[in-house]
Amino acid sequence: MATPSSARHHELLRYRDEFPLLAATGYLNTCSLGALPASGRAKLDEFLGQWDRLGASAWYRHWIDELAALREDFGWVIGCPGSEIALAPNVSVALASVASALDPMHRGDGAVKRTRVITTALDFPTLGHQWLARAPLGVEVVVLPSPDGLTVPLEAFAAAIDERTALVATGHVYFTTGAVQDVAGLATLCRERGALLLVDAYQATGLIPTDVGALGVDIYVSGTLKWLFGGPGNAFLWLRPELREALTPTTTGWFSSARQFDFDVGELDFARDGRKFEMGTPAVPSAFLARGGMSLVREIGVEVIHERTIDLGTQLIRLADAAGLPVRAVRDDAHRAGIVAIEADDPAPIVAALAEEGFVVDARPGVVRFSPAFYNTEQEVADAVAVVARLLARH
Ligand SMILES: Cc1ncc(COP(=O)(O)O)c(C=O)c1O
Repeated sequence: MATPSSARHHELLRYRDEFPLLAATGYLNTCSLGALPASGRAKLDEFLGQWDRLGASAWYRHWIDELAALREDFGWVIGCPGSEIALAPNVSVALASVASALDPMHRGDGAVKRTRVITTALDFPTLGHQWLARAPLGVEVVVLPSPDGLTVPLEAFAAAIDERTALVATGHVYFTTGAVQDVAGLATLCRERGALLLVDAYQATGLIPTDVGALGVDIYVSGTLKWLFGGPGNAFLWLRPELREALTPTTTGWFSSARQFDFDVGELDFARDGRKFEMGTPAVPSAFLARGGMSLVREIGVEVIHERTIDLGTQLIRLADAAGLPVRAVRDDAHRAGIVAIEADDPAPIVAALAEEGFVVDARPGVVRFSPAFYNTEQEVADAVAVVARLLARH
């Protein structure tokens, strides 16, 4: 298959040497786990060296500052000060923290109780599960279906959000389809109807330029596994500052204390900043790793990463269409992020056969999921499509 070279920012391919994984595989699975950069490994080594040399005093000499720098990094990538960020080990814990603060609201704020949480069939399971687990508290979860398997129209949210709705919890980008939601439109809807909007931005952060304040959302969560190239162990939570002041978590830990190092067991004075929603000792090695990934994202810039990633996805769609493959993706570049799927009744053997040929992709129910990132070449995309075309032609 010919190699089209339409993707912008060819110069980014100079970063390929930073990612050893790319030398060994055709890695097209960043939406599952971003490749490890050399800068991440170097930061992890830095952590290990400090631990070896300093023991516990590494906390005061380095690690507390490193955690603050990570909050700054996360603030930078979503357009807010680092002081508004709460660190969490994963999105589920971040959700648990904020859900604990919302529980009193579920009990009602007037004649009609706001007991409902709305999510969608395309959202990541932890988003629904967090509130399904609260059914004993009277929380009811409504799951909106997707009419086309790609998106959920704003009108469907409009029809569902009413005076019983406490919260809409949904993704900035859907994790199976890569569709970008109209978050600002959703925020307006929620505000008009007195519901809060929580957005899971895992598939957007580092890939879609974001100004969280301008989006008008109430709560924003994300993490480093994918488009921040930071591996497992790091997520974060942002709340609109007025909401952060108004809410009090009922699940907490000593990192949320305003006077953490007073060690006063009988007094809980919450931090006024984002740390109000933190828990216990963070995964410090993961924080170092994440800072390595973030340094690359900061160096390149989210706009440039976005442009190249979108172009590679467009190329994949074009080649798959030309090969007659059943593409399931948003066609409009403005509403697609880093994921393109090809339908397959039984995706697992196709994923396994691609692995045999050196390509790493993923299976999700009914699809083979591709997610080329800024570090992929046009040739890799073309070759992977050619392999799938060959495999599907055999069936
Ligand atoms: C959209 C989305 N949300 C959340 C997660 C992960 O959640 P957690 O950090 O709780 O494991 C993922 C991927 O792993 C995801 O794609």
